[in-house]
Amino acid sequence: MWEGADDKLLERMLQFYPGQPPERILDATVNRGRFWRGSTRPVLGMDIESRHRPDVLATGSNIPFKPDTFDVVIYDPPHIPNQGMDRRKDFQVRFGLGTKSSADTNYNFSHTFPPFVCEAYRVLKQEGVLFCKISDYIHNHRFQWAHIEFVQAAMSAGFFACDCIIKVRKGPIIDSRWKTAHHARKRHCYWLVFRKSGRCERPSANS
Ligand SMILES: C[S@@+](CC[C@H](N)C(=O)[O-])C[C@H]1O[C@@H](n2cnc3c(N)ncnc32)[C@H](O)[C@@H]1O
Repeated sequence: MWEGADDKLLERMLQFYPGQPPERILDATVNRGRFWRGSTRPVLGMDIESRHRPDVLATGSNIPFKPDTFDVVIYDPPHIPNQGMDRRKDFQVRFGLGTKSSADTNYNFSHTFPPFVCEAYRVLKQEGVLFCKISDYIHNHRFQWAHIEFVQAAMSAGFFACDCIIKVRKGPIIDSRWKTAHHARKRHCYWLVFRKSGRCERPSANS
């Protein structure tokens, strides 16, 4: 369980999961780079939106790097599709909430997971790690099992699913339009850890 900020958790994860200090890190959904404030880590920031001024303007389904380039890839995709506007906060821009998903894609983002994890696998070095921040949510009158769909996609791409950290926030996000709750209010998300390897542990642990 983690009750602090993402950037502090990520720094702990970067010290713990890679076998050695990572030389090349790709943040594949960097947005404004909040994960890296004050960090001296060697991070390349990628995003599909030019307004965030990423180092690399590209989509996660076509990452413009050669195979075996990165030690760590980080992925924090938009969590909730087709969200209405919340004028009190800039959630739309900060979290990519304006992104749409149609009936063809079940009003969720799960279809984006397989192409991304294939690309992440390709650009990671052997024993490299993928960290994914992901939330389940209610949408279209259904519980959307995003974290399970991401685990399934990553394992199908060849990753070993290694760990799961539950990140807790102070309170649930409650929209005034949601008059009646049909599901438990959520105040957590997951940080999932995958390794491009046939095993969970760091190479140095048992070798
Ligand atoms: C939840 S935000 C990331 C926030 C970031 N981790 C931070 O803390 O500042 C998701 C980001 O993913 C980007 N994005 C959405 N679809 C993408 C794609 N297919 N490829 C790359 N980036 C994408 C959005 O533009 C948005 O900036």
